[in-house]
Amino acid sequence: MSDDGRRAPEAYDPATLGGHTAGQLHRLCRAVGLSQADATAYAQTLTDALGPAVARRSLDLPPPTSSFLSDDHTPVEFSLSFAAGSAPTLRVLLEPGGGLGGLAQSGRTGLRAVRELARSWDFATDRLDELEDLFFPTSPEGPLALWCALELRAGGVPNVKVYLNPAASGAARAAATVSEALQRLGHRQALLEPQRDDRFLFFALDLGDWEDPRVKVYTAHHDLSALEAGGLSRMEDGPQPAEIEAFFRTAAGITPGRDTLLDRRPVQTCHAFTRTATGLPGGFTLYVPVRDYVRHDGEALARAAALLRRYDADPGQLVASLEAVTSRRLEDSAGLIAYLALAHQRGRPPRVTVYISSEAYARRPRAALLRQPATVH
Ligand code: TRP
Repeated sequence: MSDDGRRAPEAYDPATLGGHTAGQLHRLCRAVGLSQADATAYAQTLTDALGPAVARRSLDLPPPTSSFLSDDHTPVEFSLSFAAGSAPTLRVLLEPGGGLGGLAQSGRTGLRAVRELARSWDFATDRLDELEDLFFPTSPEGPLALWCALELRAGGVPNVKVYLNPAASGAARAAATVSEALQRLGHRQALLEPQRDDRFLFFALDLGDWEDPRVKVYTAHHDLSALEAGGLSRMEDGPQPAEIEAFFRTAAGITPGRDTLLDRRPVQTCHAFTRTATGLPGGFTLYVPVRDYVRHDGEALARAAALLRRYDADPGQLVASLEAVTSRRLEDSAGLIAYLALAHQRGRPPRVTVYISSEAYARRPRAALLRQPATVH
């Protein structure tokens, strides 16, 4: 550490989970133009939220849990959200405490972590408190208890989002849980009927100093086609089906004239609710899990760049951000770019979001790194 207490990224111990991810976050902050002080503060926030046991855990050990947050079970994922003509917003998604100790304990750790953030940044958690009994039963089920995302604004105070599990009391109760939670938060007319075998996957809340705090409901759609995706938005004055369809096709690499079903991993959509007269959602987002539909990340980057250009955003920032996260060749593997998303929110320009994996664990096997040409003595 230097005299003024600021850490350079090389000060994070890259052999630990906390040091590896904090170093990535620090470099990402700098790549999107945040100050050295903000980068240091946000890297520390990430380390604190993971907790000492997980942050100091050696990367030579297996992941702390089989976290659903990322494919290689790193409990951290980054994303960059681009709108026309402005610098991208950097976000980090994390599982507080790394999800240690099973779902019930992980839920308690998560609630404690969010309340700590609320105390340090002085925001209210009442909307979360009102839902505690719904999402934190004594014997929870499902792939997560609580995740938290920080939108890293300049100035060191992030916007906070909390992700909860609608299936905490069983998959059969997910729809009822979502509807009860929406009602409690005042979205009385909000009606979201799952179609076919769609599943409610997350229920998310904006906490803190948001202009227009949203409640978001995420749905996973199995075997979805571009054409079907075009018809999924229930947003008031939302996007035209053709725009959603075009994004879907480019992200998934589907050639014109064909209508392939994405059957390797579900596409997700999210409807966002703010207070509106009609009760209809004011936002709609489509998430395409690009990593399952490319040969390698070079291809995923090309698709991301094409979509960014379509929405008048600069792919250069994305390239710099990928370099902040990894030095591996993009062609060596797929999965660094996890999702490509298109978000529409009333009164705002559309945003393209690129989800970037930490890959703390999906490193090339050590053997491959050590294999040297045989030397002749
Ligand atoms: N890893 C999970 C998945 O791929 C959850 C997840 C992480 C996710 N980041 C996401 C889902 C972004 C949608 C969008 O489904």
